[in-house]
Amino acid sequence: MNIILIGFMGAGKTTIGRLLAEKLHTEQHDFDKIIVEQIGMSIADYFASYGSESFREIETKVLEQSLTLDGIISTGGGIVMKKENQHFLQGHPNVIYLKADLDELVHRVVLDKRNVRPLASSKSIDEIREVYLPRISLYEKSANLVIDTTTKKPEDIVQEILDKV
Ligand code: S3P
Repeated sequence: MNIILIGFMGAGKTTIGRLLAEKLHTEQHDFDKIIVEQIGMSIADYFASYGSESFREIETKVLEQSLTLDGIISTGGGIVMKKENQHFLQGHPNVIYLKADLDELVHRVVLDKRNVRPLASSKSIDEIREVYLPRISLYEKSANLVIDTTTKKPEDIVQEILDKV
């Protein structure tokens, strides 16, 4: 059994996933981390050398492999970009969309200096909005639970998830 967290960059997939895994005494599987281990370089370097399409293919393979994983799965923000991934997520019983207002997402991404994101770091808010807007409906239709994280503390978000799953 696993729970899959989806949502835009900065939505809290990694942080909430870690806290949720701790609470449930289970493991967290972080897609970005798994992919970095597989490709042997940073995601930013991979995007620069091989492009986003190639990254998306790796992401799809990792999603398919995640069927056998127990625990909490923190996906990357672009997981909903491929049709086959949307179908996979729609057929999964526990997919949670962590959503937040764009201003808050941008604020969190800008604050996160450790994580260089090719689709957000050193981009303007208008450029990030262009990536964000077409994804909203994809996140919504790929999830069976939506949690708004805009103004909530991580601990409260985790409690809300535990109350609802
Ligand atoms: C991406 C989000 C990133 C990472 C890559 C692409 C996206 O993950 O997978 O930079 O397309 O939204 P996070 O959502 O964990 O930042």
